[in-house]
Amino acid sequence: MNFTRRSFIKTAGAATLASVIPTTNILSAESPWVANSNTLKIGLIGCGGRGTGAAMEALNADENVVLVAMADAFADQIESSLKTIKEKFPQKVKIANKFVGFDAYQKLVDSDVDVVLLAAPPAFRPSHLEAAVNAGKHIFCEKPFAVDGPGLRRVIMAAQKAREKSISLVCGFCWRYHQPKRETFNRVLDGQIGTILSAEATYDTGELWFKERKNSWTDMEFKLRNWLYYNWLSGDHIVEQAIHSIDMLQWGMGDVLPVRVVGTGGRQKRTDPKYGNVYDHFSVVYEYASGAKAYMRCRQQNNTTPAYGVEFVGNEGRCLVDCRTGEHSIIGKNPWKYSDETKFTDDQAYKSKTVSRGMYQAEHDELFASIRNNSPINDGEWATRSNLLALAGRMSAYSGQAISLEQALCSTEKFFPDDITFDTKYDLPIAIPGETSFK
Ligand SMILES: NC(=O)c1ccc[n+]([C@@H]2O[C@H](COP(=O)([O-])OP(=O)(O)OC[C@H]3O[C@@H](n4cnc5c(N)ncnc54)[C@H](O)[C@@H]3O)[C@@H](O)[C@H]2O)c1
Repeated sequence: MNFTRRSFIKTAGAATLASVIPTTNILSAESPWVANSNTLKIGLIGCGGRGTGAAMEALNADENVVLVAMADAFADQIESSLKTIKEKFPQKVKIANKFVGFDAYQKLVDSDVDVVLLAAPPAFRPSHLEAAVNAGKHIFCEKPFAVDGPGLRRVIMAAQKAREKSISLVCGFCWRYHQPKRETFNRVLDGQIGTILSAEATYDTGELWFKERKNSWTDMEFKLRNWLYYNWLSGDHIVEQAIHSIDMLQWGMGDVLPVRVVGTGGRQKRTDPKYGNVYDHFSVVYEYASGAKAYMRCRQQNNTTPAYGVEFVGNEGRCLVDCRTGEHSIIGKNPWKYSDETKFTDDQAYKSKTVSRGMYQAEHDELFASIRNNSPINDGEWATRSNLLALAGRMSAYSGQAISLEQALCSTEKFFPDDITFDTKYDLPIAIPGETSFK
C-alpha cells in the first residue's frame, strides 16, 4: 500500500482553517455531472435507524432524486426501512434492487446507482467505502470509518482516491454541518479566544438499546444485531459515539493532531456478558505539540449526570459549545453568543439563506449541491484524523500505555476478521489495562 504515514502526520500538523471547511475541486468539462439535471439514483447500504434517516434526508435534498436500491445483512431491516421511507416519500421510492447478505454492498455499488449512503456498522465501512470509491459513486459515509488501524489506513487511501476521482465524499460528523457550530468554530479558529491552552470534550450519557437473543439467530446474527457491544464491530463507544465530541475538539484545535495520548477506562456497570466486550467509560488526555492539553471523557451509564459538548480555554477567552443546551458562546476579550435559535424547519427561509436547516439535512443538501455544481466535497482528510484520535484514545485506555498518534496510525492490530459468515464464531477478550498489549 502506498501509504505515507509520515507525510500524513506532517501535513496533519500544518492544517489551517481552509482544511476544516469542505474543500472543492473543479471538475473537467468531460465530467458527467457538468450542468446536469439527471435524476440521481440513490442506494442505501445498512438500512437501520441512521441509514433510514440518511435516505430520507437524501430524498429531501434535491428535487430529482430517487431511491433505487437497498442493501443489508438482513431482509427484515430492508423491509422496515423501506416502509418508513415510502410513507414519507411515496413518489421518490422506485426500488429496482434489494440485496441481502454480507456481499449485498458489492452488488449494490455495482448496480445502477449514482450516490451511495453507507450506514452499516462501522467495522464494514472500509470495505464498503473502498467498493463505492472504486465504482466511482458519490458517497455519504456515516461515522466512524474504521474500528482499527489497518481499517483506518484503508479509509485514508480510499478518501484520497475519491479526491483523485472527483467523487463527493460527505462524512457523518454532523456537527460540522451545524450552522451555529460553524459560526462558533470559525471564531475560535480566527483566534477570538487567543491561543488555546486547554480543552475539555465530553460525551456522558446513559445505556443504549439491546436486542434479546432469538432462538433462530446464530451467534453471529446475535452479535450483528447488537453490534454496539462488540468492539470488533463498533470500535467501542469512544469510537462509535464519543467520536462526535472528539471531532468537535479537533475542529477547534484546527485539525492539528496531538502528539501523545494517555487514556484510561473500564467497565463497571456493563458487566453482564450480554454486553459483549466494550467498556462503559473512558477518560483520555490528548497532548499537543503546542503544549495544549485536551481532556476527553465519555461514559454510557444510567443514572449519571449527562454531558455532551466541548469547551476551549484560550489566553484571551473561553468558548463553550454545549450540545445538550444548545449554548454557543465566547467570554473574554471578544464576547459573543450565538443568537439565532430558529428551529431549522423553514425550507423557504433556508433557501433564501436566512436560516439553515438541521445538520443531518444540511449534510445531504451540501452533498447533492456539490454533485449538481460539479464541486465535489471531500471530508476524508479531517474526518480520518478525528477517527485516529478516537482509536488512539481507545488503544491507550485498553493497554494502559501512553502512545503517540503515529503509533496509533501504524497499529497492526486487526479487530475485524476479513471473511465472516453467519456461522462464524468470533470473540475478542475484554481489554485489561496493563495486561492487554498495544500492537
Ligand atoms: N451521525 C450520527 O449522529 C449517527 C447517529 C446514529 C448512528 N450513526 C452511525 O450510523 C451507523 C449505523 O448506525 P444505526 O444506529 O443506524 O445502527 P442500526 O443497527 O440501526 O443499523 C445498522 C444496519 O446495518 C445492517 N448491517 C449489519 N451488517 C451489515 C453488513 N455487513 N452489510 C450491510 N448492512 C449491514 C444492520 O442489519 C442494520 O440494518 C453507525 O456507524 C453509527 O455509528 C451516526
